[in-house]
Amino acid sequence: MRNDTHTTTPPALPVRMLGQDLAVSAIAYGAMGMSEFYGPSDDAASRTLLREVVERGVTLIDTADIYGRGHNELLLGELLRSQGVAGRVRIATKCGIERPADPAAPRRINNTPEYIRRCCEASLTRLGVERIDLYYVHRLDPAAAVEDTMACLAELVKEGKIAHVGLCEASAATLRRAHRVHPVAALQTEYSLWSRDVEQDILPTTAALGIGFVAYSPLGRGFLSGRLTDTASLAEGDFRRGNPRFEAANLAHNLGLLDTVRAVAARHAAAPGQVALAWLLAKGDHIVPIPGTRRSAYLQENLGALTLALGAEDLLRLDQAMAPAQVRGARYAAEGMRGINS
Ligand SMILES: NC(=O)c1ccc[n+]([C@@H]2O[C@H](COP(=O)([O-])OP(=O)(O)OC[C@H]3O[C@@H](n4cnc5c(N)ncnc54)[C@H](OP(=O)(O)O)[C@@H]3O)[C@@H](O)[C@H]2O)c1
Repeated sequence: MRNDTHTTTPPALPVRMLGQDLAVSAIAYGAMGMSEFYGPSDDAASRTLLREVVERGVTLIDTADIYGRGHNELLLGELLRSQGVAGRVRIATKCGIERPADPAAPRRINNTPEYIRRCCEASLTRLGVERIDLYYVHRLDPAAAVEDTMACLAELVKEGKIAHVGLCEASAATLRRAHRVHPVAALQTEYSLWSRDVEQDILPTTAALGIGFVAYSPLGRGFLSGRLTDTASLAEGDFRRGNPRFEAANLAHNLGLLDTVRAVAARHAAAPGQVALAWLLAKGDHIVPIPGTRRSAYLQENLGALTLALGAEDLLRLDQAMAPAQVRGARYAAEGMRGINS
């Protein structure tokens, strides 16, 4: 038989719904690391891996205009134009954070309709598509009324430039207000065994409103895989070098919490990262984790979490061992990026 990856029918992965009508693979893929934040990457290797992501049946890839200042979207644009990919994968991208040309200058949240429209046009061009499948506001500006932001996004839907609307790091109250203006298909917020702020009121709100929950950094930026045990080997400029949870004393403490994850993994002959992803999938049918990796072996391992069923006892053990009070260090060093109360 000819081994032609261009015509292979992808295996059907389990599907989850984001909002009323956006069906995606239960584990999706985050492409951010192919452009920045976790050290250098290689475009040729990224192109190959992105094709594999599609071949393995992942039907949603996550990006943002700021990842590599457009570089990430350009990679995905190439993917969409490559043979046999069209129609097999949806792209989610984001706008709303301005990055000044000077890398030393701080980022600024900008949710003005003019800025959103300008970003949308630029993303459409970089992706080479007529319509963006899922368009998120990357951070909400506390000084802007979310109703105005949503009205702008609703217009973009009407004009056919975006298909679905998403928000990132919105509070439950903001989500309710936004959803009244136009249906929010997905909320994207950090959620993992070591980042559980959303459990109190945000997750229940998304479930009640029929909004999908996209869990970003589901592997705790690699920490929950158990393979990252110190930061010395991380590249210069790797985001984790400046992240409070990875500071030496905090990391040493946090690594101790992984013992339970490893024990549960051993019980199932699984990897710790698979336990982290299976735990997320078990937290609600509307949750879609978007792990990112630059390696085929990790991609395969991560998708393997789809067949790992954790029992009630496992879930309880994990909930207790990784309770928020146990984890040391804030999610972000930069106040503005947290944004969860917006
Ligand atoms: N909305 C937001 O504000 C926001 C913020 C952050 C991220 N995101 C989105 O969420 C996606 C995922 O988040 P993330 O990339 O920050 O974190 P993540 O998925 O939790 O972790 C990614 C890191 O873990 C490593 N990794 C992945 N699978 C692994 C495995 N099986 N074993 C060992 N290491 C593994 C990757 O290494 P290699 O790359 O070396 O393989 C990478 O360094 C991003 O791509 C982005 O699309 C959104």
